[in-house]
Amino acid sequence: PPLIRILNLTDMENVARQILSHKAWAYYSSASDDGITNIENARAFNRFFFRARVMRPVSKCDPSTTILGFKSRIPVFVSGAALAKLGHPDGEINITKGASKGGIIQMVSSNASLSPNAIMDAADQYQTLFFQLYKHRNDEVAEKRVRDIERLGYKAIFLTVDAIVAGNRERDVRSPWILEEQENGPVYFDVLKGTEQAGEVNIFGTAGALIANDDRDMTWEKTIPWLRSMTKLPIVIKGVQCVEDAVLAAEACCDGILLSNHGGRQLEYSLPPLEVLYSLQQQRPDVFQRLEVYIDGGIRRGTDVVKAVCLGAKAVGLGRPFLYAQSAYGAAGVAKVIEILQREIVTAMRLLGASTVKDLRPEMIQRADWQPV
Ligand code: FNR
Repeated sequence: PPLIRILNLTDMENVARQILSHKAWAYYSSASDDGITNIENARAFNRFFFRARVMRPVSKCDPSTTILGFKSRIPVFVSGAALAKLGHPDGEINITKGASKGGIIQMVSSNASLSPNAIMDAADQYQTLFFQLYKHRNDEVAEKRVRDIERLGYKAIFLTVDAIVAGNRERDVRSPWILEEQENGPVYFDVLKGTEQAGEVNIFGTAGALIANDDRDMTWEKTIPWLRSMTKLPIVIKGVQCVEDAVLAAEACCDGILLSNHGGRQLEYSLPPLEVLYSLQQQRPDVFQRLEVYIDGGIRRGTDVVKAVCLGAKAVGLGRPFLYAQSAYGAAGVAKVIEILQREIVTAMRLLGASTVKDLRPEMIQRADWQPV
């Protein structure tokens, strides 16, 4: 269908499901075990309702914000997700161009199918890009990566800590995946060279191969100072899943945390990030003063974004919707997703009585004590 017919992010996903190869759909859509966390990530939003304020002037409504000091037209960023070329020949560059048009920040995956260099080259002069880091178990290899990223002009490091081994993603494992196809193709894939499974049918699923060399022994005490010692970039921990670790991240002087369970692709039955955000707001509101808090997982509507911002999130990330959009419509699809979210966010803010993101407050949210649909 023409892009004008795409009214929301579910429409976009439905188009992607039609056009993606079996393998690409399996990799993008998969989640751990029975997909409970993936489903509950989204369903959690149904439990939180607005306490709207009326008689407040909203003819001017500005949903813009900053993330780590960088401007963003809406409180939304692209969460780094691997292998955009599986869905479209231009891959991650579609996201870069779409994000530029929509005025939001792209976080580039360590396992992108294009090099960090090629993606940065596609960015416009004033565009902000962040980098998602999978720390290699060899510190020297990891250090080179970090220094390259800073030199290329990426503006923050999101260190992923929830994927030290791959979750059990059976949809992905079932779909045949020959790593050699990727190695020989035009894609950037140094990450696969030298892994045990290179060149074989991958019985551990795509993710198992992608993170085979990652550090499984990271700690707050060792890894954060190590990273600080080699880069001036802000450090955000991606994959915090409970209040205790949010506090530890603040104590380790991280610049931000992304409350995330990797889109339900890692630990099955990890809590929905919105619930963790709510608990953090209830139990440790001081943490929001010490670092920026973001969430991702299951965000599909402007109201989802607004709820998270009310509960203290500086911004939210989306993973799959941008992969689906670039697969189906290239950069224009990505820009369309941002436009849809912007319209939905502004509508929700106006009806809620908020004319800037500063007006979005925890008191505007009520957690349902009845059983929602
Ligand atoms: C991811 N995610 C991810 N995270 C990360 O830190 N490094 C990565 O390389 C990837 N790769 C990846 C691939 C695919 C296909 C998906 C769907 C996800 C997780 C991602 O950053 C984000 O946390 C989730 O996608 C958020 O959930 P939603 O928005 O997809 O529901």
